[in-house]
Amino acid sequence: MHNAAFAQLGINAHYEALDVPQGELAEVLATLREAEVYGANVSIPHKRAVMPLLDHLTEEARAIGAVNTIVNHNGELVGYNTDAAGFLQALKDVAFEPRGQNAVMLGAGGAARAVAYALLTAGVKQLAIYNRTTERARALADHFAELGEVTPLSDDGLLGAVKEADLLVNTTSVGMEQAGHDPNLSPLLTGNLPEAGLVCDIVYRPAKTRLLREAEAAGLRVQNGLPMLVYQGAEAFRLWTEQDAPTQVMMRVARASL
Ligand code: ATR
Repeated sequence: MHNAAFAQLGINAHYEALDVPQGELAEVLATLREAEVYGANVSIPHKRAVMPLLDHLTEEARAIGAVNTIVNHNGELVGYNTDAAGFLQALKDVAFEPRGQNAVMLGAGGAARAVAYALLTAGVKQLAIYNRTTERARALADHFAELGEVTPLSDDGLLGAVKEADLLVNTTSVGMEQAGHDPNLSPLLTGNLPEAGLVCDIVYRPAKTRLLREAEAAGLRVQNGLPMLVYQGAEAFRLWTEQDAPTQVMMRVARASL
């Protein structure tokens, strides 16, 4: 999607995927300081590991505790996190205004940190976090306690909280189509859905996870992870090039390649 965006705007640049072993992270980061480099995206498992190797971190990246975008400012590397902004922009596509709403988030991993930060800074009334490993949900709730009303959910509390949620977001990898995963699983038991409201899954492959299929069958509005993927990329593109990203082109190319 970035190469399509460069082509669309006539920018002579190229985006490529690099497989970086842990031990070569510092070495690869050093190459980003070169004058002709805009920057990079960072993916699992390096989102946290790059942080001490950068010159500056934005407030957002620091609070989320992960960097997904690096910008080369004249040889200085700045770490950003555009996942939170990408998630909020995706909610705008379905006209969902988080302020004052009840949100339930499934998962407490890396992606969950950006989503939790996004929802709390956007002013949700309450964010309840459920995770298979309850301790991680509790740790995440503690981490963001200063940003708003955020609580961990126990197994017992899950059903009731989901029922009353205005927004349910899955940030776990359950239902994802990838080696070692069963794409026909849902993070929730069948029938455990909000009574009304929006159900989001940050998984984008398959385009409709079991969770989204069940939510849709129950008459709920749904959104998959593709818009978030594209909008976090569009924000990174804007930071690198200082030009607005052609998001429609990026969306079309991303959807087609998936
Ligand atoms: P990411 O950075 O992509 O979010 P992660 O940090 O490994 O990846 O987090 C994955 C999330 O999916 C976690 O919340 C994980 O739950 P645990 O903390 O209990 O590991 C959740 N997850 C993964 N597989 C799961 C499964 N089969 N059932 C329930 N939750 C699962």
